[in-house]
Amino acid sequence: MPPPSRHVLIIGNSDGIGLHSTRRLLDRGWKITGISRRASPVAHAGYRHHVLDVSDRDYVEKLRAIVGQGLVDTCIYCAGIGGSFDPRDLRSDVHVFEVNLLGALRSAEVIVPTMVAVGRGHFVVLSSQADVLVQAEFPSYAASKAALSNYFEGLGLALRPHGVAVSNLRLGFVDTKMARASVRPFMYTLDQAVDVVESVLRKRPLRLTRPLSIAPLVRLLAWISRWRVLLARGPACPRA
Ligand SMILES: NC(=O)c1ccc[n+]([C@@H]2O[C@H](COP(=O)([O-])OP(=O)(O)OC[C@H]3O[C@@H](n4cnc5c(N)ncnc54)[C@H](OP(=O)(O)O)[C@@H]3O)[C@@H](O)[C@H]2O)c1
Repeated sequence: MPPPSRHVLIIGNSDGIGLHSTRRLLDRGWKITGISRRASPVAHAGYRHHVLDVSDRDYVEKLRAIVGQGLVDTCIYCAGIGGSFDPRDLRSDVHVFEVNLLGALRSAEVIVPTMVAVGRGHFVVLSSQADVLVQAEFPSYAASKAALSNYFEGLGLALRPHGVAVSNLRLGFVDTKMARASVRPFMYTLDQAVDVVESVLRKRPLRLTRPLSIAPLVRLLAWISRWRVLLARGPACPRA
């Protein structure tokens, strides 16, 4: 783990895994800046919070101003939404991509060049084991995570010669408001999830999938979802 004096930026940390990680890393002595749409419940001498929406038009400009105040050694992108699906209005699907994927890319656009310039740094994204699924119920969530995982793993390979690490953390269920499914097998507590975040900060793997106990089930669901796609070969019938 880098020395505690290092500066960590946590994006999406008013709640859930981001908030719990913020509290844990502050306890460890890290200096943290947080970003989310809502104010933070955290009050600590080592903590600064910025109320910002990663999908806002001026997000990149405002993030540049924040990053300009001091080098970010580590960035953890936790912002994410699930959304709902309405075939008559796909705006919420667009928004899921804006937050889960484009927000991470826009953050990397600002932060990665500052890391490359000094030849060190660590950019972590929180993806999901759902990144291998094709989901008819909520098509945007799994698809946004598939693109997130694919892009950041590619970026991680590209940045290795520059001394900058990228980690794609693919989680299963974690006990936050986001985990809304009625059945949530092998669900992590927030403490378990943050243990994994800490291990990612220590070891800097390009990809980490946890918990592994749910991985076979995810593989089966992925296989079923691919078969659903293959079996839907004929055209959709127009409604009578
Ligand atoms: N929980 C799970 O089961 C699970 C499983 C796999 C992966 N993950 C991933 O882990 C990450 C964190 O999830 P979580 O369970 O901790 O979710 P959460 O409890 O709902 O927290 C999400 C955080 O993202 C922030 N956020 C949402 N939209 C934002 C926006 N437009 N701009 C800035 N911040 C925004 C929220 O703050 P504001 O509302 O204040 O903006 C909140 O702090 C997500 O990417 C999620 O997909 C979660």
